[in-house]
Amino acid sequence: MALSAVFLGLLLYVQVSLGQNSSTTLTSIAGTSSVQAANSSTTTPTITISVPSSTITNTGGASFPPVGSITRDFSPSGLEKLWDVVGPVESPPFTTTVVPHTPVVLPSPPPTLYPSFYANRPKDILPHLKYPKGFLFGLATAAYQVEGATKNEGKGPNMWDWASRQPNAIVDNSTADITDLQYFLYKEDVARVAALGVTAHSLSISWARIFPFGTADSPVNQEGLDHYADVIKYHRESGVEPIVTLFHWDMPLALQAYYGGFTSGQIVDDFVNYAKTVFSAYNGTVKTWFTFNEPRVFCSQVASYPFNITYAPGVNTSTAPYQCSYNLIKAHAGAVKAFREMNIVGEIAFKSDDFVGTPWRKNTTDDAAAVERHAAFQIGVFADPVYVSGDWPKILTDTLPPDYLPRFTKQEKKDILGSADFFAIDAYRSQYISAPAEGLDACLSNGPSDPEWPQCNDIQEFDSNAMWAVGASADTGAPWLQDTSRFLRSAMKQIHKRWPTNKIYVTEIGFAQPLEGQRTELYRIKEDTDRTNYIMSYLGELLLSIHEDKIPIMGAFIWSMVDNAEWGQGLSTRFGIQYVNYTSLERTYKRSAMELSEFFEAHLHN
Ligand code: BGC
Repeated sequence: MALSAVFLGLLLYVQVSLGQNSSTTLTSIAGTSSVQAANSSTTTPTITISVPSSTITNTGGASFPPVGSITRDFSPSGLEKLWDVVGPVESPPFTTTVVPHTPVVLPSPPPTLYPSFYANRPKDILPHLKYPKGFLFGLATAAYQVEGATKNEGKGPNMWDWASRQPNAIVDNSTADITDLQYFLYKEDVARVAALGVTAHSLSISWARIFPFGTADSPVNQEGLDHYADVIKYHRESGVEPIVTLFHWDMPLALQAYYGGFTSGQIVDDFVNYAKTVFSAYNGTVKTWFTFNEPRVFCSQVASYPFNITYAPGVNTSTAPYQCSYNLIKAHAGAVKAFREMNIVGEIAFKSDDFVGTPWRKNTTDDAAAVERHAAFQIGVFADPVYVSGDWPKILTDTLPPDYLPRFTKQEKKDILGSADFFAIDAYRSQYISAPAEGLDACLSNGPSDPEWPQCNDIQEFDSNAMWAVGASADTGAPWLQDTSRFLRSAMKQIHKRWPTNKIYVTEIGFAQPLEGQRTELYRIKEDTDRTNYIMSYLGELLLSIHEDKIPIMGAFIWSMVDNAEWGQGLSTRFGIQYVNYTSLERTYKRSAMELSEFFEAHLHN
């Protein structure tokens, strides 16, 4: 997350790059307001600016119709009115599905990266170990980030279509109107990764393509349903298992405008209805489902610029993340209940993110307590209710009053507990955790006036003795990310111990190669050494996790199949194992793609 603040006279202006774990809140403190990093897990130093609250325009220039002001008009002109909120959209260069030349011929493998006395080739990493039978070797994407075709085939607008046009919301001012145009190039993308030997693709469905107006009583867009049916079919025919996430942050704009999206309880029925429509359309063709991608990050985004002007009545930036969490977990449980009642064939869960952490200093119990707070706020918030107790972690209920975090009824607890068939973790990194500088007790007793409250813990990216980094740093566009492979096994052990299940998928790992976005020559771009090192180290550690620690990991997904729209970083930060030329839309395998292919060929049971 990148966060910078500029204070100009009486005008407060905050620019936040919405990426992983980014979140900014505007809270009122005794007649003043402060802008701060709300999520103490962020890696950026907290910035607090106090100004008289009367002078604040917290929109940062963003504009959205007051929640409730748009009438529900499900006609084509009603849809156009929703698109008017977004503004003009860039049309794609073509609007039919491209049929790729198959079979795809792989380029010759890259030369060995290091001499063998220093590092092994991928096939020679732990050569005696294999992944278990049925293990999914996958790549991950998300609809908003790769599809493009933003206004094609009946799609309604989503909140990121709107957000990407708000002042200073996206660092490079790009939109995802076209991005990879995977909506029309999915066959090429699938064929290219099938040629690598990839066995699964974790993709997401855009809610606004299925229900352009979002609500349960609004019309279904058949073109959208048909599109994903084709996508799923093509995956299966190509030997790539399609794995579907229902919601990867691309909130239908209509629902935000009608009632404030996930800050309103009205979302639950609309989400469950959407889920049921998708389940029955693709039952039997998709085996593994996710309701939500990283709900914790999504609910932090809700409190961040530019979304912080779109709340249900009575909700504010401080309460929004928790109201969102409450409604979202009920939507998850409702969808899973429907999945089971409908006898959908397959398995379902949601994708957690983040990590438990390691105490930064050995000589203070505060750091150990901070680790517990980190685990509770980052993973436990959704995982405890679903996997352990049916209820919020005690750390949360001890800290947050019910007007922040609504309490569950008995029936809700019953519905939530057990509403997942396996555990899914986006395990990008695992770092040290410390108590806040002012001390844990001080933070807790200061309450809302403390910039670190309610989480009251900090991430540390280097050790407390000699300040060695926990791992190599990713690109500056992903400052939260380090290659922390050496902590992966202990991180997986913690997850398995705290939220026990019979099966775990590592649903996202990945790395933004430093400086990649600034390079122009293709031969330099293709040489993504740090990403390759990251992926090989993580996959090796996962083998050890499975064989030595007996952790039941049954799949690993690399983020991402192709470079894509990285939320607030736009097109400037690249995570793909394939390079995408955003002008010609041509894809090129990077070193990491080729080495991944070699690694899996040697380590999968065929
Ligand atoms: C998200 C992706 C994102 C990636 C890299 C993951 O947490 O699910 O949407 O692009 O991180 O930041």
